[in-house]
Formats: sequence, structure tokens, C-alpha cells
Amino acid sequence: DKGPYPFYMLKEINEQPIVMRRLLAAYTKADGQVEMPAALLSALAAADRLYIVAAGTSYHAGLIGKPLFESLAYVPVEVHLASEFGYHLPLLSAHPLFIFLTQSGETADIREVLVKVKKMGAPTLTITNVVTSTLAREADHVLALHAGPEIAVASTKAYTAQVAVEALLAKALGDFKGTEAATKFDVTHWLSMAAAGQQTLIDQQARLHELATTLFAGQDRAFYIGRGSDHAVSLEAALKLKEISYVHAEGFAAGELKHGTIALIEPGTPTVAFVTDPLTAARTRSNAEEVAARGGHVAIIATSDLAEVGDDLVVPAIEPRLTPLVAIVAGQLLAYFTSLDRGYDVDRPRNLAKSVTVE
Ligand code: F6R
Repeated sequence: DKGPYPFYMLKEINEQPIVMRRLLAAYTKADGQVEMPAALLSALAAADRLYIVAAGTSYHAGLIGKPLFESLAYVPVEVHLASEFGYHLPLLSAHPLFIFLTQSGETADIREVLVKVKKMGAPTLTITNVVTSTLAREADHVLALHAGPEIAVASTKAYTAQVAVEALLAKALGDFKGTEAATKFDVTHWLSMAAAGQQTLIDQQARLHELATTLFAGQDRAFYIGRGSDHAVSLEAALKLKEISYVHAEGFAAGELKHGTIALIEPGTPTVAFVTDPLTAARTRSNAEEVAARGGHVAIIATSDLAEVGDDLVVPAIEPRLTPLVAIVAGQLLAYFTSLDRGYDVDRPRNLAKSVTVE
């Protein structure tokens, strides 16, 4: 039931703060400690490398997970597209552990990988929204996303739930291993802040609709740029725009644009820059200026700590590794309103199915 919402996608975007709180309730104890199954933590601690394997939006969530596991639990992580990994296995570490990120738990490209790595005897974990799904049943360990049913084809709350579960698991693994970084990482605090930050953006829907219309009306292509986790958010924001508004969008590492693709910038080409990381904010801003100098229509989305006069949207600043939980809501709403402006069926874009059960 959509309730008061015109489309499930808007309902599901609105549910994200509740999902953050639900995940905290499901995975933390009253004293703030993260609770994860002991067998899972032992398996993770025994692994010398984690391989996150996923598709589409879930792959983009995996990209956000890598620095979380690496910085909090001191374990190297590779993130792979399931459709590539299934047929072109890289040289694996001695003790790999595979993490499958999947909203539906039915993605055929992932199942191909799961069957292969199980034959090799490697431990497997499925993180999914559907705990009765094939990939949940067939993996050694399962963690639930607790996002509630996701009906709209474009994934929103499952993406942020995946990022939050990765943060909780990375923190739990870091604590299990006794890393100093995990001790300092107050995941309960930061996920609560993320929920509040998401709500701030949800409350600015009118502004985001206006921004979507100004940027994308009459345009058939667009760029999203950023560095680090803002790059990963750019990939996801571009996918959202492509799949429901049919605008050809590309997410780019901000510094890469000048290595060729900037040739595509023409007067009016919409380019959204995410500026949420103090380490690279100045660099991304100068990349955005290069676009503007060629006539591109640049919109800057910055966190409050890095915002400058003239920025188009300010999002609340949280711990930089978790900013994607907040920043992506802007990307989701920009895509939603662009599709709405064009009169499309937001929930059921052409050519797409909710779960992709063919390879
Ligand atoms: C995009 C989208 C898809 C899925 C992808 C993987 O909005 O929904 O890109 O993320 O098909 O699906 P799951 O997560 O079910 O494995």
C-alpha cells in the first residue's frame, strides 16, 4: 500500500530514516555494542581478504563498504561485479571470504559466483532484504537488511540499508579483532545522525524538485562527479537518474573528467558535484570549475562543514565514511522528480525487472 504517496519510490525514500533506526535496534544492544553472530565474526576474522560481489545498485553499496571494512577491521577488500566475477575470477587470496550484497537474494549473476566459490570451499555471507531467498538459503551466513518490502524497481532503501549493515558489520569485526579504529567509531551515534540527515533532505523535497527541474529539463544527458565515497555516490546517483528518467547519466571520479570526457561538456550540460570529504573538497571544486568554465551547468551538493556561498544544496555533515547514507538521498530525489516531471511511471521503468534472474 502506497499510503499517501503517489509512487512507491517516494514512500521508500521516505522510509530510510526508519530503516536506519530499525537496523540499530536489530543489531545493537542497549550498551551500544554491535551484536553479530559469533560464527560469522570468527569466519570473517579468519579471512585474509573479503570479496564483495554484487550487481547494480548493490554493487555501488559494496563500494562504500570497502573503506569501512579496511579502516575499521584492517582487512583488505575487493568489490566485484557479479556478472564479471562469475566468469573471470581474479587470483584469490589464500583465505577469501565472499560477501554477496543483494536486495532480492535472487540475482542469477550472483548465484553463479556463489556456486563456484562454494565448490572451492570458501566461506560465504549473503546480506539481503529477503531472508527466505535462494542466496540466503545457499550461503553459510545470512544478515538481514530489515528494509521492508521494496516495491519500486529503482532501489533506494535497500541501498542505504546495505551501507548501514556494512558499517555495523565492519564495526563488529573491528571490535572482535580489537582494532583501535573500531573502538573510536561510535556506529550508533553515526547511524542515528545519518537518519536525521536523511530526514533533513526528505524535508527539502520542494528544493530538490526545483533543482531537478532547473538542471535536467530539456536535457538528455548529465554527469555526477565526486572523489572517494562521493565517486561511489556519483555512480549510484547516475544509475538512479538513468533508470527512471532515461537521461543518459554518467558518474565519474571528479579527477578523471579532464582525462577525456570533459570534451562532452557543452553549454548547459548538467553536472552535479558531491563535495562531502574534507580531504578532497578543494580538488573536486576545482574540477567543477573546469566544467563551469566550458559552459556546463554545475550544481554543487556539499556537506555543511564544507559548504560555500552559492552552493546549490547543503547536506548535514556526518562521519565522512557514512556521508553516502545522506548524500544519496539527494541523488534519489533528483532522479525521482526528473521522472515525475517527464510523466513517467516512476515505479516501473521500461525494460527493467525488480529481480534479475537471468545471466
Ligand atoms: C537499480 C537496481 C538494480 C539492482 C540489481 C541487483 O535501482 O535495483 O541495479 O540493484 O539488479 O539486484 P539485487 O540487489 O536484488 O541483487
